[in-house]
Amino acid sequence: MLIRKAPEIRASEITDETVYLNRRQFLAAAGITAAGIVGQSTALAAIASDPGATGRVLQNVSESPLSLNEAPNSWSDVTTYNNFYEFGTGKSDPHENAQAFRSRPWQVEVTGHCDKPGNYAYEDVINENILEERVYRLRCVEAWSMIVPWVGIPLSDILKKFEPQSKAKYVRFRTLYDPEQMPGQRRRILDWPYVEGLTIEEAMHPLTMMAVGVYGRVLPNQNGAPMRLVVPWKYGFKSIKSINYIEFTDRQPKTSWELSAPQEYGFYANVNPGVDHPRWSQATERVIGAGLFAPRRDTLMFNGYTEQVGHLYSGLDLRRNY
Ligand code: MTE
Repeated sequence: MLIRKAPEIRASEITDETVYLNRRQFLAAAGITAAGIVGQSTALAAIASDPGATGRVLQNVSESPLSLNEAPNSWSDVTTYNNFYEFGTGKSDPHENAQAFRSRPWQVEVTGHCDKPGNYAYEDVINENILEERVYRLRCVEAWSMIVPWVGIPLSDILKKFEPQSKAKYVRFRTLYDPEQMPGQRRRILDWPYVEGLTIEEAMHPLTMMAVGVYGRVLPNQNGAPMRLVVPWKYGFKSIKSINYIEFTDRQPKTSWELSAPQEYGFYANVNPGVDHPRWSQATERVIGAGLFAPRRDTLMFNGYTEQVGHLYSGLDLRRNY
């Protein structure tokens, strides 16, 4: 992000053996022939033999028709190559420094223009009986990408419980502030706590989810336990981790990266290969998990979701509103 240049390592096709399987072969390999509720998530089944996978297995995870028809990155890619500056700025720092983080019990404060504000326990926010697996592409503003099998709930289902009022035009999210547990917060890399925001239409969009798991298991701390946003058509920094505060507001909120470097990071942060970062091109991306010699992948407008989300931005100058 601000303090690191996009890595110059060349990408190649993904070499991990599970990743070569396309989604259909993936389903077949897992013994699943139709969409619907499955006892064990598809992705989990495919990595069941991976000794590195940890965390409680989530039950009754249904397959989502919104999943990409592409196979995910490996467990190791998804859980050891992370951005979570609260635990350090290196890609392996979150994995190394977040293991003792206490993500349970967990409280979320809900405030602002809604009829049901209050302090909610994790269990009141997340109904683990209605979890979905969604395989989405994650495109970081640093010009790398991966494919991640998230498990979670559409954010709209969660927000509706708090009964937002008509004045709620935006939703603001905040990460826990706890420098004792989060060593990165002891350094002023950002103005902590990390804050993010979405328009109410973006927050309510069916693609937007609150993830509580990955690969069929409870979210590892480094990925944002116990709950984090996933907004697949936006750069990854919008997908704020370890959320403990949700506010309905009538004003466009300032976000952490916008506050830190407004000339580089805007509020919308929609994936857009036509608008370069001031310090690097956004036209292509490095595929994580790839070998050294594969070509970079072309970045897609809205990360490939133009059909679903393009209407949210009709009339908006995407060059100015980056
Ligand atoms: N959330 C918080 N609280 N702190 C962070 O540093 N990094 C963001 C986002 N959410 C970040 C965060 C960035 S830049 C990216 S690319 C994604 O998390 C990475 O998610 P992942 O590590 O699960 O792949």
